[in-house]
Amino acid sequence: MPRHPESLLSLTDFNGGPLAADLARKTFDDLLERHGYVLMSNVPESFDPVAFCKGLGGFVPQYTGVLVGDVRPEPGMEEFYHAGNTKPLYPHSEGYDFEGLPPRYLALWCQTPNTGAGGETTLADAHAWIASLDEDDRAFLRERVWSWETTDAMRHLGLDLHPRHPVIEDHPDGTIVRYSFNNLVREDDPRIGPLLDSAREFFAREHTAIQYQRRDMLVFDNWRMLHARTAFTDIGRHLRRIQIAHLEAA
Ligand SMILES: [Fe+2]
Repeated sequence: MPRHPESLLSLTDFNGGPLAADLARKTFDDLLERHGYVLMSNVPESFDPVAFCKGLGGFVPQYTGVLVGDVRPEPGMEEFYHAGNTKPLYPHSEGYDFEGLPPRYLALWCQTPNTGAGGETTLADAHAWIASLDEDDRAFLRERVWSWETTDAMRHLGLDLHPRHPVIEDHPDGTIVRYSFNNLVREDDPRIGPLLDSAREFFAREHTAIQYQRRDMLVFDNWRMLHARTAFTDIGRHLRRIQIAHLEAA
């Protein structure tokens, strides 16, 4: 059974007013550090999600160039593996197909929640996954560099990306885990399949499932957490989305 989120921040205080912005940010930082994600709920109408994200770092353009994207079913995308339909998404890290660093944070907030079952964002801690591996498997995932492909939906839009990265990359500000079950090019290496399976099994066992209320906002550390989505039926579901770059320590 999926876990319920425990890293929860109410943006409305115990008196029913908006939580002070500086206090909200401090609690947010503490929760993010501890859990790798924060789900902000009871979000007052006065809350500005784009301004909040600006406080976390610069925005990384999405595939089409937009900085604030939409995640909702789009016509013509039903047959693809793509966020713009109602199908499930498998566990992955965002931006494994970028040439450089993947976005540090991903923010998703709910404009229109879906009715009916599904439509949950699911999350699990990839640092806990790599900690569960044997030392020599971790070394293999650090040392071996792979080609990564973009999804067929992005190829359909004219983007064909082939960056090269290891699965685990040590950065001075944290360990980056890149993961895609289907878009890492395995090159007939017999060792990688079972490791990719192990991440998928870890995710299936350990994930937290998030069902959004209107204006709820999820932010997670994309170097640490894998994410996925469950299928849904209500085509009115509408999230908005920002990718936030890593802010180099001054
Ligand atoms: Fe994603």
